[in-house]
Amino acid sequence: MAVSAENAPLDAVIAPFLKEPGALLPILHAVQAAFGYVDDAAVPVIADRLNLSRADVHGVLTFYHDFRRKPAGRHVLKLCSAEACQSMGANDLIAQASARLATPMHSTRADGVVTLEPVYCLGLCSAAPSAMLDGQIVGRLTAARLDTLIDGIAA
Ligand code: FES
Repeated sequence: MAVSAENAPLDAVIAPFLKEPGALLPILHAVQAAFGYVDDAAVPVIADRLNLSRADVHGVLTFYHDFRRKPAGRHVLKLCSAEACQSMGANDLIAQASARLATPMHSTRADGVVTLEPVYCLGLCSAAPSAMLDGQIVGRLTAARLDTLIDGIAA
């Protein structure tokens, strides 16, 4: 794929990594940091620049949960779904959040207000169940505290 004006912003993000070994992951992180997500249209461009197949890039992109393939909502609520949090009631909190926000996990509400995602351990197991709202970690989450968080973002 040729370098084009259409791809110029993407190429500007990719270029600093092209000489590095194992550049795919750093590039995907950089693209997400720059654009908020990794658009499907970026996959063939990245594959071309790294001389990889589209399947190689797609495989890595879809393997890691942290890569976003669509724009996120204005708020991102991540609920820990790993074992310690599950043992402390995380599944009930996930169901509560999903119902209150009318949004299934792994998705963004239609009005773009919030994205609801699982996360697999926030390193706060001793304060399980845990969550992260817009980058801020919340421990010892209860149904009441979750309602308060949701009131703050979806009011
Ligand atoms: S399992 Fe949830 S914070 Fe570690």
